Amino acid sequence: ARGVRRCEASLASDYTQASEVADLDWENLGFGLVQTDFMYITKCGPDGNFSEGEMVPFGPISLSPSSGVLNYGQGLFEGLKAYRKTDGPILLFRPEENALRMRIGAERMCMPAPTVEQFVDAVKQTVLANKRWVPPTGKGSLYIRPLLMGSGAVLGLAPAPEYTFIIFVSPVGNYFKEGLAPINLIVEDKFHRATPGGTGSVKTIGNYASVLLAQKIAKEKGYSDVLYLDAVHKKYLEEVSSCNIFVVKGDVISTPAVKGTILPGITRKSIIDVALSKGFQVEERLVSVEELLEADEVFCTGTAVVVSPVGSITYQGKRVEYAGNKGVGVVSQQLYTSLTSLQMGQEEDWMGWTVQL
Ligand code: COI
Repeated sequence: ARGVRRCEASLASDYTQASEVADLDWENLGFGLVQTDFMYITKCGPDGNFSEGEMVPFGPISLSPSSGVLNYGQGLFEGLKAYRKTDGPILLFRPEENALRMRIGAERMCMPAPTVEQFVDAVKQTVLANKRWVPPTGKGSLYIRPLLMGSGAVLGLAPAPEYTFIIFVSPVGNYFKEGLAPINLIVEDKFHRATPGGTGSVKTIGNYASVLLAQKIAKEKGYSDVLYLDAVHKKYLEEVSSCNIFVVKGDVISTPAVKGTILPGITRKSIIDVALSKGFQVEERLVSVEELLEADEVFCTGTAVVVSPVGSITYQGKRVEYAGNKGVGVVSQQLYTSLTSLQMGQEEDWMGWTVQL
């Protein structure tokens, strides 16, 4: 409780002095870290119970060089966003889904995790403590990054004896440098993101380190990102480095089923529900690379990327371009608008997904 009080005290003095919105070039936000005022931190020992968290100034943390996360990659992260509504309040999008996903991932990574209640409460506290960094309506969002790591010291391979849970935030704009314009993907046929039995379905930090090389090579060739195929048949779509993938053919929207090698995206799941509610047929199944090349439209979903239309796909030297309004398909546009109107509170929350602060 002491930590929370400290947060409230600092907040009170901060708000009487600071303007309601931070002094930042809100017109030119990208997806880079902008340091904010506070971060949330709590730890737990081998009993698995996290102590009541503290809100502390954003900054470096002290970690043993022998910590589980630094040596053996025992770490998970999450990502969610807060939007400022036109009339002032701040909206979170489905934070309990992130809390649950972190708990599932933690089991796979042999880590204790905060309860759903503690996670959601910590997210709320962190956003409120950094309220002035939530972009003005229409200028972007506050990206919230919860981190769970084995912070205790190990030498032999084993779960760490202590864990740290942190939440920091950063105002962000569009993820891809293309902004809202369609992105250009290359299908990767050498590197794979995940294998059956591996950790592809959890948000462990190592999954993201392992795609950096393929992504770097693709970016050097001018592509926005990489689309991975399954490691067994080398034929079925998995996901993009930072997001899930959907293909549209007529009124049918298909996306790879989440069966262990694909991240169960919260935006993915939300888009499926929004599409069903709009009368589309949605299929979660194996989707082949041939279907991708023959699709009417392709789009990606993720917290960071939201709904990103795909303008072209390159596979084994062959480039396919998708039609649409400047490359943005009508279905992608419709789903983007429906989802973001809910997230930003521009439309009544008929799904009950937002949490108002
Ligand atoms: C997110 O969309 O929140 C992610 O975690 C992807 C990350 C690479 C930015």
